[in-house]
Amino acid sequence: MDLNNNLNKILIIDFGSQFTQLIARRVRELGVYSEIISHKKLNLKLDKSKIRGIILSGGPLNVYQSKKVKFKKELFKLNIPILGICFGHQVISKELGGKVKKAKNREFGLAKLSRIKNSRLTQNFFNKSGSNNVWMSHSDEVTKLAKGFKVVAKTETSKFSVIENSSRKLYGIQFHPEVTHTEKGKIILKNFVFSICMIKKNWTSKNQKKILIHDVKKTVGNSKVICALSGGVDSSVVAKLIHNAIGKKLICIFVNTGLLRKNEEAQVVKTFKKKFKINLIYVDAKNLFLNKLRKVSDPEKKRKIIGNLFIKIFEKYAKKTKNVKYLAQGTLYPDLIESKSVTGSQTSKIKSHHNVGGLPKKMKLKLVEPLRLLFKDEVRKLGLELKLSKEIVLRHPFPGPGLAIRMPGEITEQKIKILKDADDIFIKSLKNFNLYNKIWQAYAALLPVKTVGVMGDNRTYEYMCLLRAITSEDGMTADTFDFNKEFMQLVSNKIINNIKGINRVVYDITSKPPSTIELE
Ligand code: XMP
Repeated sequence: MDLNNNLNKILIIDFGSQFTQLIARRVRELGVYSEIISHKKLNLKLDKSKIRGIILSGGPLNVYQSKKVKFKKELFKLNIPILGICFGHQVISKELGGKVKKAKNREFGLAKLSRIKNSRLTQNFFNKSGSNNVWMSHSDEVTKLAKGFKVVAKTETSKFSVIENSSRKLYGIQFHPEVTHTEKGKIILKNFVFSICMIKKNWTSKNQKKILIHDVKKTVGNSKVICALSGGVDSSVVAKLIHNAIGKKLICIFVNTGLLRKNEEAQVVKTFKKKFKINLIYVDAKNLFLNKLRKVSDPEKKRKIIGNLFIKIFEKYAKKTKNVKYLAQGTLYPDLIESKSVTGSQTSKIKSHHNVGGLPKKMKLKLVEPLRLLFKDEVRKLGLELKLSKEIVLRHPFPGPGLAIRMPGEITEQKIKILKDADDIFIKSLKNFNLYNKIWQAYAALLPVKTVGVMGDNRTYEYMCLLRAITSEDGMTADTFDFNKEFMQLVSNKIINNIKGINRVVYDITSKPPSTIELE
């Protein structure tokens, strides 16, 4: 009962739009399973029995670059409803005999869409005056309709903004219903999914849990599974899910690098070993990490040392456990989705990421990746369904190299202690003021500069603490969170009054880009 094969789904064909993942998420938010496939990988041998509808995404290509667009006309003969969005809309028109040309007036940003005729696709979408604001991003446009199509809506500059061939259940829209800027955009997707594709809701955390547990059992059989547990959301959910499936045959390895957040190791042991009775090997490697990192201040060197040491330790302990055939990883759907590379863009290497997953290549273990078709928010909901605490499930992301990269310069035991305490005060204050869940990630860092201050009547000369709090969708870009002055002063006072070693607190107001989220 693999997720892929057992759920009715909406298939999203990706032409490289930056919004393809958003389309999939929106459909899933409606309670319906959706999957993305690159147009390059599209082959009509794919199992069509579970596909109830197809969405063609937008994309950076134009329909004249027909060699680059791998698209099979046969799709239109499957008798499955199709919705084309932006580029997808142009693909439908061109493939079925219409015309697409460079537009005289490009449309970027908001445009007023006006109704021309009623359609199932736009039911309850337009306001009383028969119009709605939609978000556009295109420079080509459909100039001649394909045979059998009718116009449903237009904008001032574009005659064929929404089109349909209702008898064949083919629909095209020039705007993007998946972005929040399009008012009531979700209604379009809802109409397509439920009124046109007639698919029933099948995507709930409860359902996912049942299917995924069944899948894990089927995949691993009687073998043992090993899992690198970091205490973060993904590895925690993986561990709990697999434990529900195979119980004692799961062995988790938790490496305390000494670079974790305050009391994190105690919480992991309490939750996984004591509460859930999961087989957990606790490796105290604090001294080892600290020794290897002594006098190292180059960020990339730090990352490499930590990553390599982690693999070594993990392998050592993994080898000690007999009959293990599988390694569990917390790979998520965005890591697998092809759309990242469809446009062929190459990003330069900014940092060598270290992740507890994807490590021991030498070990020749087979992989089990139960979260590979889920988005982060779905993983969080699944975690709650698995009875993990909100504290674990709603926790902000934490980088593999831990506090080492929040402490530019040399790492010392004294600095780690100061930083853990400062971070703890900041995070607890966010929770006390109900701000924690409004923020995507927040942390304290310790800067390697000392500045002069005055406490009582005495001069101080101490480190500077930097606070960072950002909002983000996926960590690829980020904006700083706006705190009010009272909150900032309260946190600053608390840190300085309670922690010996800090006499100045600053707030990082740079977005990403140009900065990154972490300091190193
Ligand atoms: P940056 O600093 O690259 O961070 O803007 C983006 C997101 O990734 C996290 N991060 C890491 N996560 N291993 C991880 O698992 C790493 O080596 C790593 N480095 C950064 C960071 O905390 C942020 O959420």
